[in-house]
Amino acid sequence: MTINAVHPPESRLPAMPRLSMFDPMFIGIDEFGEHVMLDVVYRNLLVAGEPGGGKSGLVNLAAATAALAANTRLVLFDAKWVELGPYINVADEFIGDEIEKGLSVLRRLLTVARNRYQWILAQRRRKIRREDLLSIIVTIIDELAMFTTVLGTKAQQEEFETLLRGLVSLGRACGMPVIAATQRTSWDIIPASLRDLFGYRCAFHCTTVGSSDVILGNGLAEMGFDASKINPDNPGEALLRAGKRVPYLIKAAYLSDIDIYAIADYAAWLRHPSRTTASSTAHRWEMAA
Ligand SMILES: Nc1ncnc2c1ncn2[C@@H]1O[C@H](COP(=O)(O)OP(=O)(O)OP(=O)(O)O)[C@@H](O)[C@H]1O
Ligand SMILES: [Mg+2]
Repeated sequence: MTINAVHPPESRLPAMPRLSMFDPMFIGIDEFGEHVMLDVVYRNLLVAGEPGGGKSGLVNLAAATAALAANTRLVLFDAKWVELGPYINVADEFIGDEIEKGLSVLRRLLTVARNRYQWILAQRRRKIRREDLLSIIVTIIDELAMFTTVLGTKAQQEEFETLLRGLVSLGRACGMPVIAATQRTSWDIIPASLRDLFGYRCAFHCTTVGSSDVILGNGLAEMGFDASKINPDNPGEALLRAGKRVPYLIKAAYLSDIDIYAIADYAAWLRHPSRTTASSTAHRWEMAA
């Protein structure tokens, strides 16, 4: 008998606590087989590399973790629809190839960020804490360049970039991290001023030394941290720059389509209104602004 993943019977539920975005997020292993964990609540993640490198695989890991995490809301941008589409039922907002909707959602997110900072100020603090029980709003963008160079008019693309820059710089301390992926590793897509706002940068195979430096940092290829040397036949291999630490090789974990849909269905069931916690319901008003 197969288990209905959307509404599994109560008796078949594994006994386990919900994930939290405040806990480190598992993304793969390093060269020594050690787990690689990221603290995404307080740091943004930029993922880049040539087509087929494994960017969407990593972005999917983040989406799966966020979908399963308690008191966490997803805002998903995917002009290709199929990469983040599985999570459409658990996302507060899903933006496909609709740039105007994307702009409106980004404006609302900035309003939420502003409101949160007013609240943090009133608490006489500078960032949120786990005990605040404020929901974590994770914004995930698969293929940033679609929104900044392809869809819509030049004015809309520029506004998208400006609003995103605002969210990436503001979201960090108020529980609104951004995870963005792009194939296009050039200065017009990722200017240094935007890149440096991402505390985590992950470079999959790049075609040139220059594009590796665009993601990891100027001069790093010369020092030996060069994503153009990554084997293009080994998708999922990447150089991760985490904070002040020099970049190091990782192999990202990988979810198959079956895994992704099973996780998304389970997350949808966990988040069914009858199972929604009081705190997450209480914060729904924020996005209605
Ligand atoms: N961590 C991984 N381990 C093993 N195989 C992987 C991994 N990540 C990706 N792959 C393989 O590489 C293929 C391409 O990966 P993915 O779609 O994530 O690339 P991408 O960088 O997002 O490409 P694009 O720029 O075209 O969107 C996957 O279909 C899968 O077969
Ligand atoms: Mg992709």
